[in-house]
Amino acid sequence: MAKTAKSLFHTLPHCFLRSQLFKPNCRNLSSHVKYSIEVNNQKDFLRVSLKSRVLNLSFEYLLDNNVHSFDPISSQRMENIVDVNQNVDLIDWRLNDDNKLELFWGDKRTTFFDLSLLEESSKLKQVFWDSSSFNKLIWSRAIDVNGLNGSECEKSMDQFYGLFARYGVVFVKNVEANESATKKLCEKMGIISRTYYGADMWTVAADGKHADTFATNLAIRTHTDNTYFDAPLGVQVFHCLSHDGSGGETLLVDGLNISRLLRQKDQKSYNTLTRVPIRYRYLDPGKAMFKASGPMITEECEGFPSLKQFRYNDYDRDIDQSHLSLEDQRAFFKALRKAAILIQSPENEVTLKLSPGLVVFIDNWRVLHGRNSFTGNRVLCGCYMERHDWRSKAALAQF
Ligand SMILES: [Fe+2]
Repeated sequence: MAKTAKSLFHTLPHCFLRSQLFKPNCRNLSSHVKYSIEVNNQKDFLRVSLKSRVLNLSFEYLLDNNVHSFDPISSQRMENIVDVNQNVDLIDWRLNDDNKLELFWGDKRTTFFDLSLLEESSKLKQVFWDSSSFNKLIWSRAIDVNGLNGSECEKSMDQFYGLFARYGVVFVKNVEANESATKKLCEKMGIISRTYYGADMWTVAADGKHADTFATNLAIRTHTDNTYFDAPLGVQVFHCLSHDGSGGETLLVDGLNISRLLRQKDQKSYNTLTRVPIRYRYLDPGKAMFKASGPMITEECEGFPSLKQFRYNDYDRDIDQSHLSLEDQRAFFKALRKAAILIQSPENEVTLKLSPGLVVFIDNWRVLHGRNSFTGNRVLCGCYMERHDWRSKAALAQF
């Protein structure tokens, strides 16, 4: 019979526990200490309770993350793991006032582990949205371009990156309706990606000059871009410079919300879409043939509800899926249809009209975009931008 988790652990205060398991040498701890620590009965890992979560830390992990293994200037780990003796017992430990865990090992080494560093990674939380919450969470928080240029610039920029990290969509209003003003805004906010498609910025009308549905006036169902790249481009920027007809509304769907709903309603389909890699292909005859594969849903290493990547594009899904077993073919296409029904549901799909002056920035690793068909002449400009740069700025704004 399996032991319950509770039976594996002592729940006594750690001073008492130390004296019970190790040398009876309990020291008084400062009132500033904010962690509780337990050793499991087998004495082969520590359980640390932080403010927001509980972590099990193996001795191998603790040995690898000795404070003194890191360069104090670059913060990079300098010790070679080949040189780390992992076949040692933990003899004793204590928690110091500066939240450093001091560990005494059987080979007479002492290492230090900084518990405060574990709090950092949980600060950037993604928040899901749908049609009913979009206006309040995102649309009403459009940032005025004048704020990004004025005395409150730093505050507005932090707000911008915070919104991007949390929701994956940010609007900036009152931008001059031309490509150069759009480019100036993008350059202020981050790094414009250079791509296969040509110049860093593009301006396109429905003129059929590109081998892509994008350059027509047809409706485009929601999707993420560049699924045929191993690392799809990170941020999509759109600015509608003019439109003298009707239709052409932009469609947006939150991939985090779709993942959440699918997981709630049909765990089996969710598991299939996180597990089965699907091939995508882009063919520009005589010019390019891109191919890549990946599952539709990739969770962040911290697990749901943190989404690392949503890869979804019906238009570019490859005919060749010959790597899939019969069982996986059946499971995948059933799960795909269930996800597509959620994606195309009006409760989850936001419809809005982009007007000249309004620039939208979309996280292409999370948020799906599409558009309704339209009449008349519609001119759109935009670019792709680096996503890691924005995530970094959002992380820095939090600390
Ligand atoms: Fe697209």
